[in-house]
Amino acid sequence: MVGNLCYTPRLEPEGIFRMRVLVVGSGAREHALCWSLAASPLLTQLWCAPGNPGIASVATCVPIGAMDFPALVAFAQDNEIDLVVPGPEAPLVAGLTDAMEAASISCFGPSMAAAQLEGSKTFTKEIADAAGIPTAKWERFEDAEAARAFVRRRGAPIVVKADGLAAGKGVVVASTEAEALAAIDSIMDARIFGDSGAAVVIEECLVGEEVSLFALCDGETALLLGSAQDHKRVGDGDTGPNTGGMGCYSPVPAFPPSLEHAAFERTIRPALAEMARRGTPFRGFLFAGLMLTADGPKLIEYNTRFGDPECEVLLMKLKSDLLPALQAACDGELRDFDLRWNDTAAVCVVMAARGYPDAPERGSVIRGLEKAAAVPGVTVFHAGTMADADGTIRAAGGRVLAVTATGATIAEARDSAYKAVGAIDWPEGFCRSDIGWRALRPA
Ligand code: AMP
Ligand code: GLY
Repeated sequence: MVGNLCYTPRLEPEGIFRMRVLVVGSGAREHALCWSLAASPLLTQLWCAPGNPGIASVATCVPIGAMDFPALVAFAQDNEIDLVVPGPEAPLVAGLTDAMEAASISCFGPSMAAAQLEGSKTFTKEIADAAGIPTAKWERFEDAEAARAFVRRRGAPIVVKADGLAAGKGVVVASTEAEALAAIDSIMDARIFGDSGAAVVIEECLVGEEVSLFALCDGETALLLGSAQDHKRVGDGDTGPNTGGMGCYSPVPAFPPSLEHAAFERTIRPALAEMARRGTPFRGFLFAGLMLTADGPKLIEYNTRFGDPECEVLLMKLKSDLLPALQAACDGELRDFDLRWNDTAAVCVVMAARGYPDAPERGSVIRGLEKAAAVPGVTVFHAGTMADADGTIRAAGGRVLAVTATGATIAEARDSAYKAVGAIDWPEGFCRSDIGWRALRPA
């Protein structure tokens, strides 16, 4: 194994290695990416567009939106950026990697064509079927009446998905036929997700525990990044509406290394091979959302980016330098690479603004962040925050903070994370109190 040595950084004229990196995005995932990259001895300078006040403590934030490609490319050119690392899916699906590469700037992310793995549910299903990846049985409909007839034939439970991107809200797991029919009405007829609802995918309902599996991909080779279990519902006991993720933990006892490895071989490697065969090799973070069914792990979806908050826990467990790993992936050199991990557990508790996910309140003041960060093993990543001129931190979005802790066990990491949450003085914020419950429940 060559390990991290396979990366040969560029030489500056005066003979010094240099690496100028631009991270794109503004959430806790991007904060964690910046935090990890900032620790690299290979890093020369780090920017984040647009970033947030937490990111500003480890990178220089530049006020350019993640979808403003001409401005991002111009910034990268003007500042001689060696590597761009996009965090969220929207710029990837819209072609940020292609735009950077057209300007000869290295970008660690999938091309627009490869990002279809996340951008289109139909595409994901076609890849899964072509590559023999276990997944729920499915059908696609462009005609609402045909979709309704199919639901009536199949009955509930059944899953209805808008085909395109819908900010994570385009999926209805319907426990009754009426619910499924209503979903078709609102997605296809009322077009509540716009053109993403021009077609729906209707699927068999899978039953089991969900886990998120991650790989670093260079188009040909995939390296396991590990797995985590997210908590998608807003309320304790997995109740209430779906969110972007209210917290997570790793490792997942229900997904031991042997099963993780088998799932990696069955859901990641074949997808990568199929994408390469089609002439659209996948480079970037590949995220397989899996259901651990009685028949083994089955694919629910791919995301073509790191998960949030999964990124926060996995990067806190990463012992290796992230920067040469991303560069090696860009250079197609992961075959000779490895990553080392701390043998610890990590837990992330997301703090959200009151009203999330429907109508989060903006602007409330958050105090006690330093006290929280001083809890041993804890890092507080900022998701949706803003800062006043005097440095006062305020809530600026739905998910606001990702309070992340490591520990020898999940229980220990969980205790540290909640101790840090307790140090944060933010009456208008809330979090789930049961992150990690599946791992910690009595056998
Ligand atoms: P997706 O946007 O595809 O990740 O779906 C959002 C959520 O819906 C997933 O995290 C699952 O909890 C659920 N889901 C999606 N597809 C299925 C399925 N076929 N069976 C059961 N639950 C599903
Ligand atoms: N936490 C799930 C996601 O990033 O989509």
